[in-house]
Amino acid sequence: MKMLFLCSFLQVFVLNSYETSAITTADTSLGRLILVNKTYKLPSGYRPYDLVPIEEKYNKGVMNLLRQEAAAAFSRMCSRAAKDSIVLWSRSAYRSDTVQKQLYENAVERRGKEQAERHTAKPGYSEHQTGLTIDINSTHSSFGKTREADWLRQHAHLFGFIERYPQHKENITGYSYEPWHYRYVGTEVATYIVENNLTLEEYHERNGKHSGDPAR
Ligand code: DAL
Ligand code: ZN
Repeated sequence: MKMLFLCSFLQVFVLNSYETSAITTADTSLGRLILVNKTYKLPSGYRPYDLVPIEEKYNKGVMNLLRQEAAAAFSRMCSRAAKDSIVLWSRSAYRSDTVQKQLYENAVERRGKEQAERHTAKPGYSEHQTGLTIDINSTHSSFGKTREADWLRQHAHLFGFIERYPQHKENITGYSYEPWHYRYVGTEVATYIVENNLTLEEYHERNGKHSGDPAR
């Protein structure tokens, strides 16, 4: 009960902080633990220095890019999934702020600003721009009920990925459920986050932004 109260309080606090707090520049020195959301914006024109193409067989003909370490981890994950007859591939990974601007404007036109912003980040505010994020297989919420999504929920952390916008955490993350959107944070932090049922926001809240992850 006490815990429930604390969680609700935290959610309301974070939600309110989106509405009232000033925008802060995301701390790029945090490397793979960088926090980018509706409060933390990337520096203008930010582009990671070590983007590489995702292995072709997991790219389905599109040249999606990720930061080197995340791309290698994604390949390892896809290869392991294939052993369980699970097919994973990259729909969208790194996106420049120019590409994100187009997506955002299209979404606003289609759904109106309020609904669009539950699903699509403004340019500069999308963690796709970090090169650490990947949309896997589908972008329909029904993906959450597939064997592939289930496999990802069970195994992705072992390869360093977390489900970034889980169900019932919109008040904390700022975005509605996206069972396809995975974020690379490294295996140690991913395992901690999954075992403690946290979002990346809660992880940083709990550990402090400079929580000593050795590999940046
Ligand atoms: N769909 C996620 C929130 C993005 O646009 O980055
Ligand atoms: Zn995404």
